[in-house]
This record gives sequence, C-alpha cells and structure tokens, in this order.
Amino acid sequence: MPPSTPDFLYGTAWKEDRTAGLTELALGAGFRGIDTANQRRHYHEAGVGEGLAAAYRAGIVTRADLFLQTKFTSLGGQDHRLPYDRDADPATQVAQSMASSLEHLGTDRVDSFVLHGPSSGYGWTDEDAETWAAMVKEREAGRTRMVGVSNVSLRHLMQMEAAGGERPAFVQNRCFARLAWDHDVRAFCAERGIVYQGFSLLTANPEVVRARLVAGIAARERATAAQVIFRFAQAVGMLPLTGTTNVEHMKQDLASRTLTLSADEVHAIESLAV
Ligand SMILES: NC(=O)c1ccc[n+]([C@@H]2O[C@H](COP(=O)([O-])OP(=O)(O)OC[C@H]3O[C@@H](n4cnc5c(N)ncnc54)[C@H](OP(=O)(O)O)[C@@H]3O)[C@@H](O)[C@H]2O)c1
Repeated sequence: MPPSTPDFLYGTAWKEDRTAGLTELALGAGFRGIDTANQRRHYHEAGVGEGLAAAYRAGIVTRADLFLQTKFTSLGGQDHRLPYDRDADPATQVAQSMASSLEHLGTDRVDSFVLHGPSSGYGWTDEDAETWAAMVKEREAGRTRMVGVSNVSLRHLMQMEAAGGERPAFVQNRCFARLAWDHDVRAFCAERGIVYQGFSLLTANPEVVRARLVAGIAARERATAAQVIFRFAQAVGMLPLTGTTNVEHMKQDLASRTLTLSADEVHAIESLAV
C-alpha cells in the first residue's frame, strides 16, 4: 500500500441525510479511510464534509489522520445536480469537480481522486485519456496525492497503459466471487503495484456469504461470515470497502483484520464460486 493508505475504507454512498452522522460514527468506530464522490445522485459529499467537521470538533480525528478519497463522475453518471458546467470540456469539468469536492470536504487536498468510470464499457476512449490527463494535472497541482480509476475491465486497463498515460495508484471495482473475485484485474494490478479496492464484497456475493466453508471458518474464529469475507479480501491484497450503516458492523468489519485464515482457506474461498 502507498504510505498512509488505511487497510479499510468506509464508503459513503446512498446515505443521503444520514451521511454526516454515519461518517462521524464510522470515524468514531475507528475508520481512517473515507470514500465518496462528487456525484449527488448516489453520494452526499457535502454531508461527508459535515461529518468530518463534526469529528474534528469532537477531537475524534484530525485531517492528518485521514485518507480522503473522492471521484470525478462524467455527465453520463450524473443526474441534474452537476458539480460542473454541463457544456464545459472534460478538463474544465475535472477542475470544477475537484474545486467543489475540496469545498465540500473542507480541505485543500484529497488523498485520492478517482475516475468514477470510463465513458464506454468497451474500451479506453480519447475522452477518457483527456479526462485522465486533467486528473493527473490536479495531482501535479497538489490537490490530490494520488489518482485512480473505477469500474474498469482488464481491457480498459491494458488500453489505458498502451495509451501511455500515467499509471493509476488505485483501481476500485465491484468484486464478483464468480470471476474469482476479479482475478485478472487484481493480477494486472499486483504486477504493477496498483492497489485494488473491492466494493460490494458482501452484496455481490450472497452465495459465498452463505457458503458452508465460510460458516465453518466463522464459527472457528468466533466471527461472522462478513468478517471472513473482509479478512479474505485483505489476505489476497485488496483494500476492501464497507458502507455499513450499523455501528456493530463497523466495529466487526475493522476487527476482521485480526482473523486468521490459512493459505489453503484463502485459496478455497478464492475459487469457491468459480
Ligand atoms: N466506484 C463505484 O462505482 C462504487 C459503486 C458502489 C459502491 N461504491 C463504494 O463502496 C461502498 C460500499 O458499497 P457496497 O456496494 O460494498 O455496499 P454497502 O453499502 O457496504 O452495503 C453492504 C450491505 O451489507 C450489509 N451488511 C451486513 N452485515 C455487514 C457487515 N458486517 N459489514 C458490512 N455490511 C454488512 C449492510 O447492512 P447494514 O448497513 O445493516 O450493515 C448493507 O446492506 C459505497 O459506500 C461506495 O463508497 C463504489
């Protein structure tokens, strides 16, 4: 992991009016990494900023303790509540979105700025390359420490690399157990020192959460199936996300790092749904 990257991220999607309170609760529970996006359709980034401010006031954390990650979402992923001018070029939209994120989050620099998704499901386009170059400029200007991409296939990543753009520090993907937990993308990332962030680890994989193998490990470790999945994710090198709204789950998720899985168990979970 790059320096000061935590081993778990708290995700702030779909929390609407509860965003500020849940963000503060997650920080109180021990999370030090926060994931959000300047995409009002699914996130309330200003609410995340309110939660951070409340946690600072309460003395729970300081900005220096935290890893803050936000995203640039292109027009196709937004509703009418845009953080940039609809008619501006992608580079201007990136700069406007970043300025708005910094204001929402009450900071002058985020730790990671992620492209929410490429413009096409089929490949890395010229528009993506233009957007990515603008995001790298934000890094060069000191407004983010790192840049990353999300919702990408191996094809996107290979084309992005072939286009000669800068390598992302992070890939954030929905992680399906039936694809051996996104094995090919994870392998690409591992070879290049890119940190793979996995989301929907529970919700995309109900068959694994219910699996007898996982239940057996959970019983031995006096843990829950969710904790076994999160520990597995860390064991294969992922940085997992959780967006739980339940404070007990928050604590359990963080405590999953203490579970012990053998190499054979990790391998068995990796191939469970393939
Ligand atoms: N890049 C993207 O396009 C993208 C897309 C989706 C999500 N994300 C990010 O990933 C974050 C997480 O999203 P997600 O899709 O993984 O779903 P999630 O919001 O984390 O939902 C997890 C679900 O599992 C339940 N759950 C049960 N036991 C749990 C436990 N021990 N720990 C955690 N959850 C438990 C939760 O219920 P309780 O609330 O009752 O615990 C919740 O309903 C989002 O907030 C967002 O930041 C990114």
